Amino acid sequence: MNWASHVLLLALTPQQPLRIRDLARHDILPVAKLLQSSFAGKTNPLSAALIIAENALGLTERMSDNVLLVAVRTIYDERGAGGNQTQIYNEQLVGFVELLTPEWLASDEALGYPDRVRDLKQPFIFSLAIDVDARKTGIGSALMRAVERRAATLGSTCVNLEVEEANKPALDLYSKLGYKEVGRDEKGRKLVGDILFGRSERVTKLSLEKRLDQDSVAEEEGQFSDVSSRRD
Ligand SMILES: CC(C)(COP(=O)(O)OP(=O)(O)OC[C@H]1O[C@@H](n2cnc3c(N)ncnc32)[C@H](O)[C@@H]1OP(=O)(O)O)[C@@H](O)C(=O)NCCC(=O)NCCS
Repeated sequence: MNWASHVLLLALTPQQPLRIRDLARHDILPVAKLLQSSFAGKTNPLSAALIIAENALGLTERMSDNVLLVAVRTIYDERGAGGNQTQIYNEQLVGFVELLTPEWLASDEALGYPDRVRDLKQPFIFSLAIDVDARKTGIGSALMRAVERRAATLGSTCVNLEVEEANKPALDLYSKLGYKEVGRDEKGRKLVGDILFGRSERVTKLSLEKRLDQDSVAEEEGQFSDVSSRRD
């Protein structure tokens, strides 16, 4: 199987198939907006625009050396009348996740990341986000499994991530998928509100780890269709 062109096709409903594929250039802006709305909360339009621009820049820098996956729903639409009917399809972005590779984390490009993440020498899962209207339908779980399979394909036996202790939906999801707590940082900080005038709040961050069982990852992979992926 060609893992470099790995795409999963899941049928949530016959009308709206869910596809997981590599991030393409045209996904960068919608993903940057999804990350802003998922992680920055409510803020003023100027601040939102700055965060979206910063996200877009980061995605562009990371996309070639890491694994960035999007989940999209395909919406079919009939246009025209009589014999001139054409069937078109649009993609609607519903989720995103990325896997930072140990090689990239060790490079100078990752100097802004905390040492505890860079020193892991294991892939680090980052930025899982699902569109608010598409949550609780299994997309987060599907993206996590897809990114774990990618990590296993790259030869990794373990993946890591960090989550705020107060983020119960994410903690429940990771616990269901078999992640175990391996560390805790009670001095973490995050920006709340406006990018210029917001405040920095203290948060407790948990480090989680999952050992990848290569056999079960390969077995599970057989359940999904493999279609080509593009980065255009
Ligand atoms: C956390 C998040 C990614 C979950 O994605 P999702 O697609 O809704 O997750 P799934 O539908 O696959 O849910 C799988 C399991 O996660 C847990 N879960 C998901 N949402 C939950 C919620 N709101 N409350 C409690 N548990 C929840 C449940 O155990 C669920 O299993 P169940 O459906 O059998 O109850 C999504 O809520 C999100 O994007 N949040 C904002 C961004 C974020 O916090 N990302 C994580 C950063 S570490």
